[in-house]
Amino acid sequence: MCGIVGYIGHEDTKEILLRGLEKLEYRGYDSAGIAVLNDNGVHVYKEKGRIEALRAIVDENVEATVGIGHTRWATHGAPSRTNAHPHQSTTGRFTLVHNGVIENYEELKQEHLANVSFNSDTDTEIIVHLIETFVNEGQSVETAFSSTLKVLKGSYAIALVDKKNKETVYVGKNKSPLLVGMGNGFNVVASDAMAMLQVTDRFVELMDEEMVIVTRDALTIKTLDGEKVEREPYTAEIDASDIEKGTYPHYMLKEIDEQPLVMRNIITEYQEENGKLKLDQDIRNAMQEADRIYVIAAGTSYHAGLVGKQLIETIAKIPVEVHVASEFLYNMPLLSENPLFVFISQSGETADSRGVLVNVKKLGYKALTITNVKGSTLSREADYTLLLHAGPEIAVASTKAYTAQIAVLAILAVDTARTKGIELDFDPIQELSIAANAIQVMIDEKDEIETIARDYLSVARNAFFIGRAVDNYVGLEAALKLKEISYIQAEGFAGGELKHGTIALIEEGTPVIALATQEHVNGSIRSNLQEVASRGANTCVISMEGLNNPNDQIVIPAVHPYLAPLVSVVPTQLLAYYAALHRGCDVDKPRNLAKSVTVE
Ligand code: G6P
Repeated sequence: MCGIVGYIGHEDTKEILLRGLEKLEYRGYDSAGIAVLNDNGVHVYKEKGRIEALRAIVDENVEATVGIGHTRWATHGAPSRTNAHPHQSTTGRFTLVHNGVIENYEELKQEHLANVSFNSDTDTEIIVHLIETFVNEGQSVETAFSSTLKVLKGSYAIALVDKKNKETVYVGKNKSPLLVGMGNGFNVVASDAMAMLQVTDRFVELMDEEMVIVTRDALTIKTLDGEKVEREPYTAEIDASDIEKGTYPHYMLKEIDEQPLVMRNIITEYQEENGKLKLDQDIRNAMQEADRIYVIAAGTSYHAGLVGKQLIETIAKIPVEVHVASEFLYNMPLLSENPLFVFISQSGETADSRGVLVNVKKLGYKALTITNVKGSTLSREADYTLLLHAGPEIAVASTKAYTAQIAVLAILAVDTARTKGIELDFDPIQELSIAANAIQVMIDEKDEIETIARDYLSVARNAFFIGRAVDNYVGLEAALKLKEISYIQAEGFAGGELKHGTIALIEEGTPVIALATQEHVNGSIRSNLQEVASRGANTCVISMEGLNNPNDQIVIPAVHPYLAPLVSVVPTQLLAYYAALHRGCDVDKPRNLAKSVTVE
């Protein structure tokens, strides 16, 4: 979703901004822009589409040492050059980029900006006009900035430059992610550390309703009431090479391939030297005290939560409800007496999940965040965090984070069971390492899976994944992956439910892919497959060694049934990848999607 960069220093600013924006491309966007300041004034360049297109219109001779940049994912107003950021005040003195959504922009417009004419359809533009209006009324720029932030309702991360002052970038944040970074003789602003790793790895976190006065030599953090805040910087532990594609054609393929390594990282991070599981005592206590767990998540993380429910209920014997964050926010179920909230989020920034977290904290409940991003908002604001250790996930379609989430949930389930004294014949460390090897076997069968993708999906209009028990949950994820990158209309269905309506969609040649990794439902899922095959479906089976039939198209190696989702999902990720590729889709940047959805 929208991304912000800013730089003030001595180097060629346009290049640093453009490179920063390229690093934010993975978040998803539909237009981009930069503004740089020099003695001749402010130079604004904006373009619809890719950064490449923006780069092409930036004057290569423009020299500047301060500037701001933005990638926009449209909310208010269509994706267009006009609606792209930066936006400018009427006189052109102030130039601003913004992430988030201003909920009261209509009211503010009527109250303060009745005589101002607007160039764009965005909510953002009111912010820059408000600042200029307050300055015209006699406020200093800093005061006008804070007065403006105070009247905004909603979410924002903002960077502002003033044509009359090349020495300062003004920054503010509420709910939307934003960091400031420190260098020698320069400072930077970024929505996430990856954008600015090119120049620094030292960052300072910002809290909601804080602003920062950024100069070449100093970062001054203040509350909106002007009180100074001292905060130590931290070093971002991201290896810049982790965010490069290397020889891979797409990040998605690289990240699929990294899954065995991620499993091994998780084993290392969650194992004590004596072989026991390593988890904070506070998390153990919270799990023991909970009479019910409420998992809150979105998208792929929600699907991992469904598998996690199965694991926690079966292994640790605690009831679990899994909720889509955006629904939970407005449609909260009746809660148990001692609930524990578990937020699952690759990015740790998803606004829907954060909205729930803020509410449940207000109600006084404890929350655990399972995330890939240390220091992310959901991690900071929850009581406890479990990290995924998957390394940066860049492709919009989540793959390695999903398997990492399931692995960490399995560890959490077993640790809880052991603390409760439940006897288990399941050693998660041993079983995860078997699963890691099985994932590798699937990855090594890429070529065969590519052929299946070509045969089944290259011209398909729609496709179905069916499964029973936990395979049903994997089917939901498989369908999401396929639709998000190949644009084939895909549905995941409980095998037994298909006949209650949806079977009407099965025609001659409709691809139906069944997941069959669970012994107790193996017979019934195969019957469901027969039902669709006899109506013309082009069926394909992903089964597990020991449960397979001779004609099954994909057979995963035998793993513990609890961990089968970790392995069976891999061929579905590859099917989606190759289907998208064969259909000429932009695998890493699917249309309309964002990696980190920071608006509700
Ligand atoms: C976006 C992404 C999905 C992701 C979802 C939740 O929609 O495109 O891939 O699953 O957000 O993101 P999170 O970072 O909270 O896991």
